[in-house]
Amino acid sequence: MSTPHLQGQKGDYAPVVLMPGDPLRAKFIAETYLENPKCVNEIRGMLGYTGTYQGIPVSVQGSGMGIPSIGIYSYELYHFFDVKSIIRIGTAGGIAPEVKLRDVILGQASCTNSNFAMQYRLSGTYAPIASFRLLKTASETAEKLNIPVKTGNLFCSDMFYDDANSLEEWAKMHVLGIEMESAALYMNAARAGKEALCICTVSDCPLRHEFTSAEERQTGFTNMMKLALETAVNL
Ligand code: HPA
Repeated sequence: MSTPHLQGQKGDYAPVVLMPGDPLRAKFIAETYLENPKCVNEIRGMLGYTGTYQGIPVSVQGSGMGIPSIGIYSYELYHFFDVKSIIRIGTAGGIAPEVKLRDVILGQASCTNSNFAMQYRLSGTYAPIASFRLLKTASETAEKLNIPVKTGNLFCSDMFYDDANSLEEWAKMHVLGIEMESAALYMNAARAGKEALCICTVSDCPLRHEFTSAEERQTGFTNMMKLALETAVNL
């Protein structure tokens, strides 16, 4: 049964899906790391693949950028394809002073300026959090692989170009990084009774005007992809 945005049939996705924002990164991960990768989605060029890693089924599906985009794809994966766990692998801007370029962040929770939670008609502010099982597994896997990680809060923003310039205030609250997808992913997972985790590589530190080169980003990404894949098969 295909959906408005995913052409796959039930069973085309593994119970665990890695979600990079960039569909070409999904293709790269599938073709580099998965055994027998099969393309399961091409609609809108938002490529998705399923294969195995160490013999265990794993899917990789692009999410696109921002809350509305990952909101659509994660909703359809959870509700129409029996996906249980989604691990977003993306980039973040480093905010807190101790966060450095190329660091890997495990998003324990996600603050947001988005109104995504409004749909749930709650009588207070919802706190989107990662699945503890995924977070614990990723944290332990990182230790085993000798990949240093920083675990804490993310700020999921609706704006990349933001007139409010609020990053210094978020830094005061010790938020580690800014990205644009985690809050919707965590809320969709919670509402569906499923699991989500966001792993980010720090690609830039906007407050310090520091940026990685394309080559430097690749090293950080390699650690993050290894961590995500090893987490996926150790759940
Ligand atoms: N802002 C929002 N998202 C991002 C950033 C940023 O500075 N860097 C990487 N993803």
